[in-house]
Amino acid sequence: MELITPAQIQPREDYYLALERGSILYFPSSPFALSEEEREVLRSTGLSSSSHHKNIAYRPAEDKITGFDPADVSDPHKLRGAMRSYSDRALAFLWKLLPRYMEKARIDFASFRPQEEEGRDLPAKKRNDLLHVDAFPTRPTRGDLILRFFTNIHPTKPRVWLTSDPMAALAPHYANGAGLAEAAKHPKGPLVGRMLGVFGAVEGKRSPYDRFMLSFHDYLKFNAEYQSACAKYRFHFPPDSAWMVFTDIVPHAVLSGRYALEQTVIVARGSLVGRENAPIEILQGLCGKPLA
Ligand SMILES: [Fe+2]
Repeated sequence: MELITPAQIQPREDYYLALERGSILYFPSSPFALSEEEREVLRSTGLSSSSHHKNIAYRPAEDKITGFDPADVSDPHKLRGAMRSYSDRALAFLWKLLPRYMEKARIDFASFRPQEEEGRDLPAKKRNDLLHVDAFPTRPTRGDLILRFFTNIHPTKPRVWLTSDPMAALAPHYANGAGLAEAAKHPKGPLVGRMLGVFGAVEGKRSPYDRFMLSFHDYLKFNAEYQSACAKYRFHFPPDSAWMVFTDIVPHAVLSGRYALEQTVIVARGSLVGRENAPIEILQGLCGKPLA
């Protein structure tokens, strides 16, 4: 597991392959400028206390922000402007470095993480300090991949991450225990899930892969043996640094830090340089059945 610092900001096959094999691309200082005013607008924003939100989210397609506490924001337009500006520049940067992925990528949300992660009081399933792979309950990927670009805008503190060995090493040991065979057996999902009206819309779009990844996310967080025995790599991302990683290939946890910005894109698995690196391919190889 490596941190790789691109020497030039231009597309290179080894950058794509590094990401797909579970490395982190790291930029010691942000590859695009963020004004001090934008940083201030963001850092003065609180999370909505009454809500279930973990972060403030920005939806580029709708130019909309959610998850903030209106009482804590003097000017929601400025907050939205700062999020829009970050999202625009992060996406432009991704186009510059990774055009092969961006050509068919789906643009997902950007987010801002205003709370200190150390000692944060969240239910186990939502805890960020336990190693996990990402899966989105509301936005199934059907085998495409979650690529996330992060920037630390804390003025003085690093953001501290823990990661572990990627899917290719992880899945052979843990996927069966997490119910891979069961997920592969029911291509349309458990009957009870299909009958629940509330989940009907999303559940109908979930492939066996999405259902497995959602349960794998929880399985890893609740597996004390995995959390303590797995290989661990610790990274300190200093103020103004940026990094990107496939968060469904690489198990990760955030130990401390606050004020991180992030933009997500969903990369079509057909865009990978090595398609065999996609988690869905690894899992299908293990269970011998199509998962999407
Ligand atoms: Fe995550």
